[in-house]
Amino acid sequence: MVSKNYKAIIALMLFLIFNFQIVSDQQASELPHLLKQGTATQLIVDGKPFLMLGGELGNSSASDMEYLRPYWKNFKAMNLNTLLVPIYWELVEPVEGEYDFTLVDSVIIAARNNDIRLVLLWFGTWKNSMSCYAPYWVKTDQQRFPRARTKEGKAIEILSPFHDESRDADTRAFAALMKHIRSVDGQAHTVIMIQVENEIGMIPDARDYSESANIAFKKQVPPELMKYLQQNRDSLIPEFRQMWQRTNFKSSGTWEEVFGQGLHTDEIFMAWYFALYTNEVARAGKDVYPLPMYVNAALIRPNYKPGQYPSAGPLPHLMDVWRAAAPQIDFLAPDIYFRSFVEWCEKYDRSGNPLFIPEVGNNQSPANAFYAIAKHNAMGYSPFSIESLDHPESNPLSMAYDILNQLEPLILVNQGKETMMGVLLDSTHHKKQINLGDYRFSVRHEYSWAYAQKTEGETPRVGGMIIMLAPDEFLIAGSGIIVTFETQVNDGSIAGIASINEGHFINGNWIPGRRMNGDQSHQGRHLHLPGRTYGIQRVKLYSFK
Ligand code: DGJ
Repeated sequence: MVSKNYKAIIALMLFLIFNFQIVSDQQASELPHLLKQGTATQLIVDGKPFLMLGGELGNSSASDMEYLRPYWKNFKAMNLNTLLVPIYWELVEPVEGEYDFTLVDSVIIAARNNDIRLVLLWFGTWKNSMSCYAPYWVKTDQQRFPRARTKEGKAIEILSPFHDESRDADTRAFAALMKHIRSVDGQAHTVIMIQVENEIGMIPDARDYSESANIAFKKQVPPELMKYLQQNRDSLIPEFRQMWQRTNFKSSGTWEEVFGQGLHTDEIFMAWYFALYTNEVARAGKDVYPLPMYVNAALIRPNYKPGQYPSAGPLPHLMDVWRAAAPQIDFLAPDIYFRSFVEWCEKYDRSGNPLFIPEVGNNQSPANAFYAIAKHNAMGYSPFSIESLDHPESNPLSMAYDILNQLEPLILVNQGKETMMGVLLDSTHHKKQINLGDYRFSVRHEYSWAYAQKTEGETPRVGGMIIMLAPDEFLIAGSGIIVTFETQVNDGSIAGIASINEGHFINGNWIPGRRMNGDQSHQGRHLHLPGRTYGIQRVKLYSFK
């Protein structure tokens, strides 16, 4: 009898353990996570790929929910599905070890009420190089939390990454934050991704000259980094490889022996230590709640040298160093405030790094989003200080996001395959050829057409995307472009337009609108998406001889 009960209890325990395991595995797989599809990496939310049509709040706007309250309706009107929101260490842990998550909770609830997902930005040890978000008890205890120093030995308001106390304090706070998010959001997944720190960088020198930093600088390059570099020597980011090549790929020695003397070596050294520190913060957070985590970078102005720009951050030429030191960080992301949008997308979409643009100047053309999402499989796009955009119901971003929202299911199916392309045109790039399936598309800026309506001033940036629906059927979406068609088959055949319809999608179903013929297709010669608005047209092609 006893043994029967005993067996039953064991069986029950095994059943419970097993089922608990299944539930935990299910829950874990349902957490937002990254997944590859062809050449793309997508963010999976609640079991489905998700395209972040985002906006980032201005730095101080999430410190007062009353201040933020009126803007939520604007975010909806702008067709945002994701908001990037800072979380401030100084307000989360005003007293050491005492956490206050009131703001975190309020923003999660408000986001849920508005059906908007969140990417939370951990303003911890570093914010735009500085340590201005460190709590008062950190700022005022320089023994425990030492500062970085300039070459002249002057302390600066940047916590030095060479000190475990600072790293551990940040790590504890971040882990507490992640634990809290898990407890309040582990089921709903309103929070879908985390940015660890913000625009880490060293300025006005390329490296920290504090005593601990100087000691580390004289040491050997850590074997972990050497091993990574040797193993990946042929696939390193070319700019980085060139720097190392100067010493003929020396495989051991001090930093200056391996990479040579110069500011570039100061920066590589510093990047390694910034990345190690950040990796520990991310690891502690992922240990309790493993959401995807990334770091963002302030980019480099042309001809600036290390030390003149925030150096050693997650910049493209340092991608390998960051990757070797910080495997807990899923990817590096650019904050693009320069006009050279295409160049920075290309630099970040390398070496398997997925593209996400957490910040872009909010005065930039939303045509950028079409290009990044279609050409570079971007997971998302997010203008900065989104709350300050005027006319939320009718500004260009709202129009662009409306179209991208409609196209989202199709975009997500086509990312990472050879069936979708993006294009961006401006005053210097008027024309682009795109090959897709059997056809060649020549995409021109509408200003190159004599009959286009032009506005005074600078030629605006325009662009869009082409999605292949069938071998002879394509969706073309965007603004300010003119598209002509050729066959790619070299048999003398000519591509003709069978039909063009403008239209829109409702819940993934195509609702055709006007048949675009006559003047609207230049009597069958081209497809035109007029500027100053965003639209979708569906074209069916055929060929004749
Ligand atoms: C980039 C930073 O990451 C943001 O937090 C903000 O400071 C903007 N710059 C301001 O332009």
